[in-house]
Amino acid sequence: MSVRRLAAEQPASFAFSPENLAWAEKQVQKFPEGKQASAVISILWRIQEQEGWVSEPAIRWVGEFLDMAYIRVLEVATFYTMFLLAPVGKKAHIQVCGTTPCMLRGANKLIERCRERIHPEPFHASADGSLSWEEVECLGACVNAPMLQIVPDTYEDLTVETLDKLIDDIQAGRPIKPGPQIERHHSAPVGGFRALTTPELYDGSMVGQGAGLAAAREAIAAREAAAAEAARAAANPAPAEPPAAPAVKAQGEADKDKVPTQVKQTVPASDPAVRPDAAKKE
Ligand code: FES
Repeated sequence: MSVRRLAAEQPASFAFSPENLAWAEKQVQKFPEGKQASAVISILWRIQEQEGWVSEPAIRWVGEFLDMAYIRVLEVATFYTMFLLAPVGKKAHIQVCGTTPCMLRGANKLIERCRERIHPEPFHASADGSLSWEEVECLGACVNAPMLQIVPDTYEDLTVETLDKLIDDIQAGRPIKPGPQIERHHSAPVGGFRALTTPELYDGSMVGQGAGLAAAREAIAAREAAAAEAARAAANPAPAEPPAAPAVKAQGEADKDKVPTQVKQTVPASDPAVRPDAAKKE
């Protein structure tokens, strides 16, 4: 992390252009009386847009303009790395993130490349005065590490080769594209989306069908029915079958075939041996 100090050489004074002064006065009016300090970041930013960096006289000017202690303006200017505290390259000041996720993904190689192509030391302009660089802390795009910032945009998913191309394009005055420098949409997975890829989700054919809602309702109903069935089974358990019952049943089935066929009855029902009461009647 670079130490954020004011530059050793400072201009004698600072003044806004008439247009920027009118703009700054309007900014202050956005806030309630006594809360003018809330405009500090936007006014520092406009100073940087006008001057290319934020000088010590400019910080004092903001303190007086917003009725703030100088030290409070200095705290803001030194905390946010988007504020440049020294003159930088005329075409771009490259802020390379050197925090852990970016380092793990090769930020050290990018920093080394900046040393080779721009200047061995941060905050020193290149030989032609067009570029300068510094190392900064996490800029909040870790998912696309390693990355760098050229205020006001970020450039992500970098390699030494894509950094070289960025530098070449800046020096040649060609436009540069912010965001991922690979085929990635914002911070979506590399290689394209992997979820919610069903085409019908995007062609309008499911609009008004309630398909998602219907599926959810079915799932909820099934879950509730299963829970009710489990509760019912817990309240009225089925009588347990004696352990021997299946074996006994099976044996009974097997023995059916062994029972001899019943002998046909040949004695008439009127035979006194069978129906003694029948003989008496005769
Ligand atoms: S660590 Fe580099 S952007 Fe967060």
